[in-house]
Amino acid sequence: MKILGVETSCDETAAAVLRGARQVLSNAVYSQVALHGPHGGIVPETAARAHLEHLPRILREAVAQSGCAWEEIDRIAVTRGPGLAGALITGLSAARGLALRLDRPLSLVNHVEAHLLSPFLSPAAPDPEAFLPAPALVVSGGHTVLYLLRAPGDAVLLGQTLDDAAGEAFDKAARLLGLGYPGGPAIARIAEGASPGPIRFPTGRPRPGTRSLGGLHAEFCWSFSGLKTALMRYLHEHPPRGTDAVARIAAAFQEAIVTAIVERCAAVVRHSGIRRLLAGGGVIVNARLRKALGDWAAEEGIALLLAPSRYCGDNAAMIAAAAALGAGIDGDAAMKLDIAPSWTVGTP
Ligand code: KG4
Ligand code: ZN
Repeated sequence: MKILGVETSCDETAAAVLRGARQVLSNAVYSQVALHGPHGGIVPETAARAHLEHLPRILREAVAQSGCAWEEIDRIAVTRGPGLAGALITGLSAARGLALRLDRPLSLVNHVEAHLLSPFLSPAAPDPEAFLPAPALVVSGGHTVLYLLRAPGDAVLLGQTLDDAAGEAFDKAARLLGLGYPGGPAIARIAEGASPGPIRFPTGRPRPGTRSLGGLHAEFCWSFSGLKTALMRYLHEHPPRGTDAVARIAAAFQEAIVTAIVERCAAVVRHSGIRRLLAGGGVIVNARLRKALGDWAAEEGIALLLAPSRYCGDNAAMIAAAAALGAGIDGDAAMKLDIAPSWTVGTP
């Protein structure tokens, strides 16, 4: 079974061909970072227009690099949401057109669910049936969520951020530090090898005594707005002089986010009693975070499955994989349903 995946939910125009759920035959990604960078964030209409311009080329590239002919594609999978409306419409229209032209079935995939399942794209990963159920973390520019993933297509929300996503917090902090967009890679780069010294930023723990936040266990939730305020205040009180000073602050900021993420994962594993964890999403590419999660897992004897770095940021291989694992909406509905810009995992 060969699946062509299409992803256009945000600022990556991506297409990939997979054989089954694991074997990635091609993975083409055009990143729009250079287009949005000067604006300090994603401009939705620019993103949609760029998808329109680049998707035909990326689709041809993915199919050509896979070594398959168009006729050999057995299914098309596409992101239906969540994401930017104009961006999603571009990908869904192209995918539906291809499904009609090739007379092949279409699957609609939830972007966050694809990140949840992306750790299984690792060649060394066990099969989902052998690893699930397990707590699963997604940390990206738009989402910071913890689910109990019972099976592909069957996830229960355990925790989430109450305000900014971790990637968004990185992006805002980088702007405050004058490091450009996207902020995650910029902060990771400057913080590499730097020590925070005595600088400590808050990790957004719930107030003592708070048990539940919006119906979720308080210990499984994040808040990154206090961290941003703390950084603003610190910069106001100690304006950094020189690159080394900026690097120390960036390292302290990164450390606070890494600690916040590891703490919540540890709480979920402790409470669920399931000694396994999956993690994916754009921020999981962060080397410090990968190391901290790895150290914690090794110390506690937790089976940790991280998404391979090349499938952390937005890509279409994870979309095709999610469809292959049965997590997509298939059948007639896939040819009829509209895009879903705020689609939550586990809802229709
Ligand atoms: O998953 P993704 O590509 O898009 C969304 O679905 O949001 O994630 C993008 C996010 C951005 O906020 C970016 O700053 C962050 O991932 N990011 C990083 C790193 N590389 C990308 N954050 C921390 N460290 C990195 N090395
Ligand atoms: Zn994403």
